[in-house]
Order: sequence, then structure tokens, then C-alpha cells
Amino acid sequence: MIEWIVVDDEAEVGRTGAGILLDTIGDNPRAVLGLPTGKTPLPMYASVVERCRVENHCFRDVVTFNLDEYVGLSPSHPSSYHSYMRAVLFDHVDVDPSNVHIPDGTGLRVRQVRPDVTLDEALELECELYEEALHNRGPLEVTFLGLGRNGHIGFNEPGTPFVSRTHVISLTESTRVANSAYFSPGETPERAITVGIATILESRSIVLMAAGEGKQEAVQRLREVTISEDFPASALHRHPEVRCVVDRAAFGR
Ligand code: F6R
Repeated sequence: MIEWIVVDDEAEVGRTGAGILLDTIGDNPRAVLGLPTGKTPLPMYASVVERCRVENHCFRDVVTFNLDEYVGLSPSHPSSYHSYMRAVLFDHVDVDPSNVHIPDGTGLRVRQVRPDVTLDEALELECELYEEALHNRGPLEVTFLGLGRNGHIGFNEPGTPFVSRTHVISLTESTRVANSAYFSPGETPERAITVGIATILESRSIVLMAAGEGKQEAVQRLREVTISEDFPASALHRHPEVRCVVDRAAFGR
């Protein structure tokens, strides 16, 4: 069941997301959160950080799992999602680094213990380990999502099976173009590790955020309630507790 929450603008989308996040960890200081990156959640993280400056919110026992990371980027690469998360959230709250999980897109973590495996084998093993960590520390209590113009959630591109677990995915051309602003010409990664759709659907509750006219078509398609693997976000109709927080520009008429 999707509940639509339509607000004025992207700042309000962010404040609403931040309110849900902080209420979640207020109710359960050991909450396990699924976290997105990209442009849409920036106001949410800014609002969380801002409120943490003036209110007392404790991240110490909060556990986080990011949805995705690019293949080939080291955690210190400025365009990696590791760097993004440090810059927008983790460097500003009292989160325990051992509670933070982001897929390793280099395969190095695996190769340190299994130097015999190829890069692709290491990435496969990384996905299995990530899924295992999710299983051991989960379940995810709330997973926050952005929405790709082609309906991707996480980096689950159109055609990804709804039964998918954490896996390596080839990014579509449209996703690479959308994310090329963060990279030098010709350097946008071709692949990513993403949490799968089945994994996302196991989250107790889900908050999808979308803002701006550029997301209107995707939001419209989601509102049509046709469930198809061609439009990954439509899997959310199979979940009992989804809130879609969108601004008027994205919601349209
Ligand atoms: C990123 C992610 C993606 C983005 C989506 C929208 O972690 O999971 O699904 O949420 O590509 O990106 P923005 O917000 O940049 O439009």
C-alpha cells in the first residue's frame, strides 16, 4: 500500500524525510536504516544534521546500510557514495563507524582475504557478504529511496527481477547520463553494486522521495499501479507500508 504525501517543494520533501528518520531513531535507538544517495536526499540529510545541532539525537547505536556503490571507486574517491555519506551525514553525527555499511565497489575487502579470486568473483562475494550482514543485523526498519527517471530504486534498473538480492548491475545509459555531472567526462562508472528489490521489500517500512518536474513521468507511472519488472519502483505496490513523499512538481496533476 502506498500512501502519497505531497508537499510544496524539495526542501519540504527533505524535512519530511528527516522527520521520519529522526522519529524512527527516537523510537528505536538501535534502528537499522536503509539509506540512499543522489540529489533528492540531500535536503533530508541537511535537515537531519541541522536538527542534530540544536536537538539531542543519538546515532550511536543506529545501524545503516547504504543501497549502493559504484564498481571501481575506492571509498576515498570523491564521487564514491562512501565520500558522499561522510560529507552529508556521517561526519556530522555520532554514528559508530562499525555500524555503517556501504558496499565495497573495489572488491578489495574480499581480495584481502581471497587474493586468488578475479575482480568479478570478488564483487560477487562482496554482494553475498553484504546480504549476509543485512540478514545478521537487520531487518531494515525503514528504507529511504530516491526514484530514477526510468523507475529504478537503488540501482535496480528496469528488468531487474523482483526476487533480486544484492548484486552487481550494469547501469543504463540514462542513469549514467543522469549521474555524469559527478564525474569527469568519460569516467562515469558502468556498473554498481546495489541492494536487490527483494531485500528492499523486506524492510518493515519504506519511504520513497522524489522532487522536481524531471521525476513527474516516473511518479505518474508509479501512481498507475501497473506492477511490472520493466518499472522497478512498481514493486513497492507489493509492500504493506510505503510512504511516497513528493513535491507538487513531481506529483503533477
Ligand atoms: C542512489 C540510488 C538511486 C537514486 C536515483 C535518483 O543511492 O539508490 O536510486 O535515488 O538515481 O537519484 P537523484 O536523487 O540524484 O535524482
